[in-house]
Amino acid sequence: MFYGADYYPEHWPEERWEIDAKLMRDAHINIVRMAEFAWSKMEPKEGEYSFEWLDKAIDILSKYGIKVVLGTPTAAPPKWLIDKYPDILPVDVNGLTMGFGSRRHYCPNNHNYHEYTKKIVEAMTEHYKHNSNVIAWQTDNEFGCHESVCYCDNCLKTFRIWLKEKYGTIKNLNDSWGTIFWSQTYNDWDSVISPRRAVTSHNPSLLLDYKRFMSDSFVKYQKMQIETIKRIIPSSQITHNFMGQFNQIDYYNLARDLDFVSWDNYPVINFGDITFNIKKLSASVALSHDITRGLKKQNFWVMEHQSGPTGWEEVGRQLRPGEMRLWVYQSIAHGADAIIYFRWRTSTSGTEEYWHGILDHDAVPRRRYEEVRLIGEELKRIEKYVEGSVVNSEVALIRSFDNEWVFEIQPHAHGFRYMEQLKKYYNYFYKRNIQVDIINLWDDLRKYKLVIAPGLIMVNDEIAKNISDYIKQGGVFLTTFRAGAKRWDNRMNSTSLLGDLKDIVGIDIDEYGAIPTGEEISIKVGTEIGKASFWYDVVKFNTAKVLGTYESEYLKGRGFFTVNNYGNGKAYYVGTLPNDKILQIIMGKVLKDISLKEIPIKRKESVEVVRKIKESKDIYFVLNFNNEESSVILNKSMIDILSGQQVEKNLHIKPLEVRILIEK
Ligand code: GAL
Repeated sequence: MFYGADYYPEHWPEERWEIDAKLMRDAHINIVRMAEFAWSKMEPKEGEYSFEWLDKAIDILSKYGIKVVLGTPTAAPPKWLIDKYPDILPVDVNGLTMGFGSRRHYCPNNHNYHEYTKKIVEAMTEHYKHNSNVIAWQTDNEFGCHESVCYCDNCLKTFRIWLKEKYGTIKNLNDSWGTIFWSQTYNDWDSVISPRRAVTSHNPSLLLDYKRFMSDSFVKYQKMQIETIKRIIPSSQITHNFMGQFNQIDYYNLARDLDFVSWDNYPVINFGDITFNIKKLSASVALSHDITRGLKKQNFWVMEHQSGPTGWEEVGRQLRPGEMRLWVYQSIAHGADAIIYFRWRTSTSGTEEYWHGILDHDAVPRRRYEEVRLIGEELKRIEKYVEGSVVNSEVALIRSFDNEWVFEIQPHAHGFRYMEQLKKYYNYFYKRNIQVDIINLWDDLRKYKLVIAPGLIMVNDEIAKNISDYIKQGGVFLTTFRAGAKRWDNRMNSTSLLGDLKDIVGIDIDEYGAIPTGEEISIKVGTEIGKASFWYDVVKFNTAKVLGTYESEYLKGRGFFTVNNYGNGKAYYVGTLPNDKILQIIMGKVLKDISLKEIPIKRKESVEVVRKIKESKDIYFVLNFNNEESSVILNKSMIDILSGQQVEKNLHIKPLEVRILIEK
């Protein structure tokens, strides 16, 4: 199993490198990622390449048995290049050029940037093509991080070409976008705009197409890098470090051209939540893992794993003793085949002076180093059980970037977010140890017993057919409010709701509305009464049967939750956002239709249990995300492969403790 750190030898004197390599080896580190921000060091002046320093670092590391992932350095174009071609810099929504001085300062459609990207990637791959210590490549760094949208004139030109390929004629574009509204009709391709700042909101179809175009631009830009590397090293293994729940780029498309995917896992991050209460965080981190695994339907790497307090301007908190280990095992439980910490040693300069690595600024090995070493030792011991083990889910949740973007453009109800709804459903399964795959709209649904598509506002024929075929052959499907309301071009359907999904779900929507933000209405399923927020659909059922109703307002007695028999399967509809209490009852009803493989371990709140499989044997990861001792009940006694001991039915787990259990 690969175990490592992100290493920046260019930040430290050469005399230090061997000491680092030795310390790494002692901590069982066998891989580093390097060079993804080292363009100015590898090509200090145009065409003058300098790889001696990197050769030397790689040689030293290899003496200690440490392999290398090389990153292409394109997330930070050097100053000489920007000075020569200032048009590489991206332009913001106000038409202002963003300056040099941080990172990701490039337009993905800039021709000059493409040429220089090819040159540096070619130079690196040519130089390292025979170096067997370089075992993988990473493209760029975190595509879609920061504001990865450009509105420059060249992007506009490229956007017009993209649109022409998509719509063929300007008439089709006008029809699709409905530009008759507010007199926006375009007479020719050259008059089409990009959505720079206007007096007020732009046309939603234009906005969606611009998001798609930008996403495609980065996918294409990455493909160019991949093709360059593969041309020179056909057998190369290429990855990219994704960012969990980020949504600027359609990750399914970005993953398509890669050999495997990786992601950067910072569970306790000061840009998000640095709470001590980690049970608030664990489900969301689990979801990010599952999102990453779903991109290629295969295991992944963690290319940056938190190893200390995060921080740019403000500093996050230390991971408590044992906490890093817990997050590491959660990563492995959800499909990580490699753990690489960010970063080896904390930088003494630059924006990330407070983003701590394994070692502090002074490089004295302290608690975090010792924990890394112990985890490394442990992983070596158990890798024969866990390496290559896979999650096998029977439930899938659909995450569609196109649909997420539609809600980003028009949240419908103030503060509503597509991902928050998805998380509600995800959390239901998370709390019950039911493994979930996160998949795309076009994926094969047949392997799942249950497919849930929250926020499926936009569908097309192909997607509707995929869903319909799945249900007809016996699948159980659930979707939620606004399903099928829009066409794939982000215009409203002029047919009645639910558009292409109407027959499948077997209902009509009589009327709908937003629930005022911060307010709730009452809903009822069976005898249970709970609350709902953000949206209400008043359902009129055709072939479907009503299972839940509204209780307040003029809606009293009207349906929001239905089920329809369709082919050999069933389609459920939830026309509002129920609170957890009602969601639990709804899902309880849905799960009665299917039988999921039981996990022989009963958990308590905030003890996560994940089942993986290796060579048809089950492995259970039991992770205590509580700050207190907790326990789980096993159906039978098992072996804990971490301690090698047999554990009995009532298993106590200390705070932040991990158990990995196999059957005897
Ligand atoms: C990641 C990024 C790294 C580093 C780290 C800490 O998002 O890939 O290069 O910036 O965050 O900020």
